[in-house]
Amino acid sequence: MIGVFDSGVGGLTVLKALAAELPAEHFLYLGDTARLPYGTKSAETVVRYALQATEALCERGIECLVIACNTASAVSLPALRERILDVPVIGVIEPGAEAACAASHSGRIAVLATEGTVRGGAYQEAILRRRAGAKVTALAAPLFVALAEEGLSEGPIAETIAHHYLDPLLAAPHGPPDTLVLGCTHFPMLARAIRGATGPEVCIVDSAQTTARHVRRTLEDAGLAARAGEGSLRLLATDAPQRFARIGSRFLERRIEPDEVELIDL
Ligand code: DGL
Repeated sequence: MIGVFDSGVGGLTVLKALAAELPAEHFLYLGDTARLPYGTKSAETVVRYALQATEALCERGIECLVIACNTASAVSLPALRERILDVPVIGVIEPGAEAACAASHSGRIAVLATEGTVRGGAYQEAILRRRAGAKVTALAAPLFVALAEEGLSEGPIAETIAHHYLDPLLAAPHGPPDTLVLGCTHFPMLARAIRGATGPEVCIVDSAQTTARHVRRTLEDAGLAARAGEGSLRLLATDAPQRFARIGSRFLERRIEPDEVELIDL
């Protein structure tokens, strides 16, 4: 069973990509809806929350832990790996950075993320470690999180806000980025509006998909991949199962019934 952790429902974009990559797998998803958003909180707080939440997943017998939340991956991965020794812990930053470096010709790479992820510098560091000459621009795009949660991922409001964030990036005096990393769980929901603002030339890297491929390879290498049978999903949340089901249904692209979401206390 694979544990998937996020601050809320956003990580369901990663779960969707994981389930497509590993259809026979059993997933246990935890959204820390009582304490979201993580993206505006200090690194110390996010580390504390992430440790508590991932311990709850480990207690339930997972064999691999995926940190779907970009903010938690960016600031808490070393602390989580220090504490969780018996299962592989996979974050979304390294797979996203690897895909961006592979895709970029010019080395000009932009990362859109939450405030906490940008401040933590993990994407910038992971890209520069692979490609020392890269020119990385990281930009916080908090309004995208609200738009995705409000169900306004498409249409004129999303398009205006996509231009608001991306036009200055694309007009950068040293040349526009050729690669854009969607460094937040919510941003794949806005892919169409983002593509509308970037035009067709920019390569958009969705860290959910690259992480899913990385998890499959890790499980296969460890001989842990489930090969046959039907997969399953169990959903846990720390608050408001009804809201989780309503908003999460859009992220997962399938209806989630409120009684599918188990309320837990950390
Ligand atoms: N899951 C967060 C991330 O990917 C976005 C939502 C939040 O701020 O908690 O960074």
